[in-house]
Amino acid sequence: MDTAAQPVVEIQSLKKVFHVGFWGRRVTAVDGLSLEVLRGEVFGFLGPNGAGKTTTIKMLMGLIYPSSGTATLFGQSIGDPAAKAKVGFLPESPYFYDYLSSREFLRFYGHLFGLWGTALERRIEELLELVGMTHARDLQLRKFSKGMLQRVGIAQALINDPELIILDEPMSGLDPIGRKEVRDLILRLKESEKTVMFSSHILHDAELLCDRVAMIMKGKLVACGLVSDLVGQNATQSVEMVVEKLGPESLEHLRPFTEKILLQGNQTLLVLKDQHHVRQALDLVRVAKGDLVSLTPHRSSLEDLFIRKAAGLEPRLQEAA
Ligand SMILES: Nc1ncnc2c1ncn2[C@@H]1O[C@H](COP(=O)(O)OP(=O)(O)OP(=O)(O)O)[C@@H](O)[C@H]1O
Ligand SMILES: [Mg+2]
Repeated sequence: MDTAAQPVVEIQSLKKVFHVGFWGRRVTAVDGLSLEVLRGEVFGFLGPNGAGKTTTIKMLMGLIYPSSGTATLFGQSIGDPAAKAKVGFLPESPYFYDYLSSREFLRFYGHLFGLWGTALERRIEELLELVGMTHARDLQLRKFSKGMLQRVGIAQALINDPELIILDEPMSGLDPIGRKEVRDLILRLKESEKTVMFSSHILHDAELLCDRVAMIMKGKLVACGLVSDLVGQNATQSVEMVVEKLGPESLEHLRPFTEKILLQGNQTLLVLKDQHHVRQALDLVRVAKGDLVSLTPHRSSLEDLFIRKAAGLEPRLQEAA
């Protein structure tokens, strides 16, 4: 069998129902989810708070059991120790032993995977180098910033040299520099032919990093595919035009081409429905002797898709879409 074509993660109709409170109220956290993560790709698992990302990841890691449906890692059932040995995992809120140094912390996890002696020490040095933490190798973790902890957390997830790395919200709580560092780290993993699946609600990061993404809301898949296709599907390509010195009459002539007109002091912002109307709008501005200040095409993003999908599920977001 061609292993390149074989999905590394395969989820089919996965469902998780929690029973909460005294009366056992049913909360469906994951609701019939199916998706695949392919070998060598960076896969973004996206969704708003409470969408079911962590619950899905916990099922993949065998930490909780599905109510129904199946999931496999490397074609084997999720409970299979051989499959688990090839996976590295960073939980959403990892626990760090405050009084250990990063070296001691990694040594502890190395021992859990049966690594000892010089092989382990070499691996630890490699990982500290990879995550840029060599300078802080003997500093106690309680003195680390959130970004440093996250990098050591990722080093921990790599201790067993896994083929698949699952990271639950690796960028959350980090400043832009910290996020960039984690993004670079994920790209380095991709370069070394690892498969990375990470959850996030920071769509910009996912757009920069991922080959493919799945978007889930209320436990259900709402979109899945190549980032370029998903963004393309949603490519309304509106154009923003800012003009000055346009009278109300000229604005009326422009109205049929616009989605929105906003007056901002002596300037007017016009959102054109699409780029095909740019030429007509410019002609009208010229005839009306208005001044063009700027013309900016609006590229669709994952964020637009996200808001549109969310609006379909939540009336309060319909305005935003
Ligand atoms: N152990 C549990 N018992 C009861 N309900 C739970 C439990 N774990 C999660 N849930 C519920 O399941 C839903 C999905 O939660 P989950 O943590 O998987 O979302 P998430 O997508 O990871 O969100 P976030 O972005 O906030 O991390 C939520 O409604 C949550 O309250
Ligand atoms: Mg979560």
